[in-house]
Amino acid sequence: MLEGKIAIVTGASRGIGAAIAIDLAAHGAAVVVNHRDSAAGADEVVKTICDAGGTAVALQADVSLLADAQRLVKETVDRFGRLDIVVNNAGTTRDMLLLMMSEDDWDVVLRTNLKSAYNCSKAALRPMFKQRYGRIINITSVSGLAGQAGQSNYSASKAGLIGFTKALAKEVGARNVTVNAVAPGFVPTVLTSALTEEQKNAAIALTPLGRFAKPEEIAYAVTFLASDRAGFITGQVLSVDGGLVMQ
Ligand SMILES: NC(=O)c1ccc[n+]([C@@H]2O[C@H](COP(=O)([O-])OP(=O)(O)OC[C@H]3O[C@@H](n4cnc5c(N)ncnc54)[C@H](OP(=O)(O)O)[C@@H]3O)[C@@H](O)[C@H]2O)c1
Repeated sequence: MLEGKIAIVTGASRGIGAAIAIDLAAHGAAVVVNHRDSAAGADEVVKTICDAGGTAVALQADVSLLADAQRLVKETVDRFGRLDIVVNNAGTTRDMLLLMMSEDDWDVVLRTNLKSAYNCSKAALRPMFKQRYGRIINITSVSGLAGQAGQSNYSASKAGLIGFTKALAKEVGARNVTVNAVAPGFVPTVLTSALTEEQKNAAIALTPLGRFAKPEEIAYAVTFLASDRAGFITGQVLSVDGGLVMQ
């Protein structure tokens, strides 16, 4: 399905990003497993992919920094000769009620979740335009669709990603580059590990399918949007949330 395609997955050292990297590789893509701090996690994801007969390399870059994102794209193209798929997955939270939220809590979340998509997409468009082919997939969240108390920074960053997805889709469609977003509901990862049992049960109670997602279930949607089967889909937000937020 993705044979010959080269993909970058940002924040792929664990959680949803790792599942996306593994699924893209299982469908034939060569995958750059990006991480910022967790080199061991990224190496493990690369090993999982290579043990299964796939192709992957780990590349460190803090994608909230433009220069790092540019280097990530350049090293990918230098190594593999092209770049077809970018999954802007790296993300973080600094949950706090707005009245107590520090400027740093706001800035870190917006830089990590939103500016990183600007950084990586901008850098990726040059090779994608040259090829007249590209797939950009932004990992947003139900919080960006519905808003979440205690997450004004995170919700703003994820809603921003949706606007970014739609605007960029209109800019680059003529070059055969599609831009879509995937909006996961709750997935048990490091990001959600701070939730109390009470909060988890409340989230499950609001979810028609009555459970959290597995990371692979988010990955399946990404692989579909990265594939030629989604060649006429752009500017869309695909929710993978068990029906939590119906648009
Ligand atoms: N889990 C959920 O319920 C849920 C729901 C909706 C949306 N999402 C979104 O899904 C994405 C993945 O979340 P997750 O739950 O898998 O989180 P996670 O387990 O905390 O993983 C986050 C990943 O992002 C990387 N990362 C963070 N800052 C980075 C930076 N500046 N540059 C490069 N990599 C960076 C981390 O790598 P290092 O440790 O190396 O920094 C890690 O690999 C995020 O965008 C999140 O907002 C998650």
